[in-house]
Order: sequence, then structure tokens, then C-alpha cells
Amino acid sequence: MTKPLEGVKIIDFTHVQAGPACTQLLAWFGADVIKVERPGSGDVTRNQLRDIPDADALYFTMLNSNKKSLTLDTKKPEGKEVLEKLIRESDVLVENFGPGALDRMGFSWERLNELNPKMIVASVKGFSDGHHYDDLKVYENVAQCAGGAASTTGFWDGPPTISAAALGDSNTGMHLAIGILTALLGRDKTGKGQKVAVSMQDSVLNLCRVKLRDQQRLERVGYLEEYPQYPHGEFSDVVPRGGNAGGGGQPGWVLKCKGWETDPNAYIYFTIQGHAWEPICKALGKPEWIDDPAYKTAEARQPHIFEIFGTIEAWLSDKTKFEAVDILRKFDIPCAPVLTMKELANDPSLRASGTIVEVPHKKRGSYLTVGSPIKFSDMKPEVTASPLLGEHTDEVLAGLGYSKQDIFNLREIKAV
Ligand code: COA
Repeated sequence: MTKPLEGVKIIDFTHVQAGPACTQLLAWFGADVIKVERPGSGDVTRNQLRDIPDADALYFTMLNSNKKSLTLDTKKPEGKEVLEKLIRESDVLVENFGPGALDRMGFSWERLNELNPKMIVASVKGFSDGHHYDDLKVYENVAQCAGGAASTTGFWDGPPTISAAALGDSNTGMHLAIGILTALLGRDKTGKGQKVAVSMQDSVLNLCRVKLRDQQRLERVGYLEEYPQYPHGEFSDVVPRGGNAGGGGQPGWVLKCKGWETDPNAYIYFTIQGHAWEPICKALGKPEWIDDPAYKTAEARQPHIFEIFGTIEAWLSDKTKFEAVDILRKFDIPCAPVLTMKELANDPSLRASGTIVEVPHKKRGSYLTVGSPIKFSDMKPEVTASPLLGEHTDEVLAGLGYSKQDIFNLREIKAV
């Protein structure tokens, strides 16, 4: 089957997570992604948190599947020459170096555009160009703090908290992928490449937009009725951390189930959707709440919402998280068990859908990874192993017209 991005050639000048997540996604969908890595060492994640000596770490293998690896020292003149050849015949260059690194290497946007005016140059940086912090190097947690996630995550009596979800890294990569695909469609119309830039701060903030909504509501009315601080606690002039409260129009909370005393994940998330109040009362065996004025409306429930959650927890105390969800789903109540990584890794539905896949690897044996979360009716993206360092150097160089002797010479001077 022809994949939609087949024929799109991408120079993958990315490392760590934000950039690699973007190019991996494009590779799944058929793009020819050539990862350019420093000879001898490669992407730093090949060595980070290794679980098998001398084999690429999972951090690398899980973010670089379906790619080719070309080793190239782009600071050496001979390496620059190879890169220039590659640039002339590629559609996209993606990079997430620290600020100014590509310019220092001699490949500014102007130079790249001169070498190949049709090429799209896509970058991830911590902060957007011109921002007063645009000189900063940035990792995941820094971005979560700078983008508004940390100040609004966690409990009100604890410090700002980082989410386990890679809001700064992979999320930014997904934004960049959208930008690249948009620029490719734009090029079909204009024939011209362009620069696409995404900052990690902006990408985090984009996902925190409901918190900016809350800031404006707070400034107008002085309180936020869906937060646990309402109506008994105090609000300051900034959006507080709301614990596990639901962020939309319906209250929700993480509730204890049978076994919570010993199992730290014996919980479900329970949502009290306004129009589902009647089924909730029926599910809980509390039909008297349906028409009770103290419970009937969302407004009436809010002042004693934690007493309601307490009653639900009492109902949950003899049910496992899975048993509880099996009962509640029959009443159309939005809820889910709090799932562990172990449970997700072994979930037969996720295996069947290709969301969790097992990939054979030349050195590691097989490993688990997250496959495409995007499903298509006409294509099932196949996940193949990440490349070994320099695995495709000869193939890529031969494709650029280098002879075996040329390649030998480049190796001798450690340019590849
Ligand atoms: N050949 C020769 N040199 C190479 C090379 C190659 N193939 N690939 C990279 N380099 C050089 C770069 O030119 C640069 O050199 P310079 O600083 O002397 O100009 C250096 O290696 C890499 O620099 P940098 O990207 O700043 O690496 P770092 O390890 O110091 O910082 C980050 C890592 C992630 C903090 C930084 O890259 C960054 O802030 N990136 C943007 C934001 C981002 O994506 N962060 C999330 C990562 S998940």
C-alpha cells in the first residue's frame, strides 16, 4: 500500500524528544526520514538510562522508529558538503538544536533557502524567536513551568507540579508535524518552502488554554466555581492548583476503590455530568437524591460536592476499579479506571489497535513502544525498529552519488 507521505524526504537533524517525536510520526506515515547524527556518539538518548549494556536505550528506540541513520560531522567542511547535497534534494529539514546552533554551523535560514528554495525548514526551540528568553536552552520540565502547566497542576497546599505527559517535548513535536504538513500543502500551491517554528512554551500554553480562560473569569468574578476552593476556600488573583477537579463544566474527582490502602492505583475518575444526575443516583442506590433540592442541580450540589464524592467512595469500597467501571458504564457515566503502565502495556485492546506494539530490534531483541495514536481507514502505520548508529550511512551517501572510495575517504577523516 502506498503511504501518504511516500516520496517526502526529510533531513532529521533532531535529538532528545521534541524533534524526534515529530519526525517519527512523519516516518510512520511514509516519509523517508534520514537522521543525521554525530559520528561516534549520535543522539545523546542512545546512551541515556540504558537497560542493556551496549544496546541503544529505550529512550532512543521509542522515538526513532522507521528512520534511517546517517553519521555526519557537519562542522567539518567535507561533512558540510554532504549536508549541502542532501539539502538540495530534500523536502524538509527538521531541527531542535539549542538557540543559534544551526546558524553557527553555517546553515542559517537564508543559506538553507538559497540552497533549496523549495525546502521547508522546521524548528523547535524553548521560546519563540524574539521572546525575552529566546536564548535559553530548554528541556521538558522547564517548558511545563514556562507554559503555565506547572503553576496550575497539583494540589493547592503543595508546590507547582510537573505532569508525566510530555507536554513540552512530544506535544511540541506534534505541533511541529502539523506545521510541516501545512507548509507542504502550502508549497503545492506556491512552489516555495518556508520556515516553520514552534516553541515549547507556546505548545504547552496551547494545551493550557482553559487555564487562561480561568484567569480571565477569576479576574471578572473573583472565584471559580468548579475548583475545590469554591465555595468554602479563598481565591487569590491567580488561577490556583485544582487538584483532580474537572476542568470543564462538570465536577469530577479521583475516587478510592477496593484495595486503595495497599494499591496506589486502586482508583477511578468519576465525573458528575449534569444531565447524568438521575442515572448516577440510580447507580449508587440513592434514588432519594434525584429530586432532593439539596442535590437536584449542579449549583445545589457544589457546596457539598466532597460529601457526595465521599458517598460515592463508600459505594466503591467493595468494588475494584474495573468492577466499578463495569457497573457505571451501564448508566452512561463518564469514568475510567486509573491505569498503570503495566496494565496499559498488557491491554489486549491497545495491542489489537496498534497503539502498543512490539518491535524487533537487531541488538535489543524486541521492545514495546507506542505506535501511531492516529488511525486511518486506508492505512495501518507499521512501526519498524530504530536504526543503529550510522546504519544507513553507506546507502545514503551512495544515493547522493558518492563512490565506495569517496565513502572510505570520508570515514578516514571521521567526517562520517
Ligand atoms: N556534527 C557536528 N556537530 C553537531 C552535530 C553533527 N552532526 N549535531 C549537533 N552538533 C553540534 C551543534 O552544532 C551544537 O554545537 P555548538 O553549540 O558548538 O554550536 C551542538 O552540537 C549541540 O548543541 P545543542 O543543541 O545546544 O545541545 P545541548 O546538548 O547543549 O542542548 C537542548 C540540548 C535540548 C537543551 C538544546 O538542544 C535545546 O534547547 N534545544 C531546543 C529545545 C528543545 O528541543 N528541547 C527539548 C529537547 S527534548
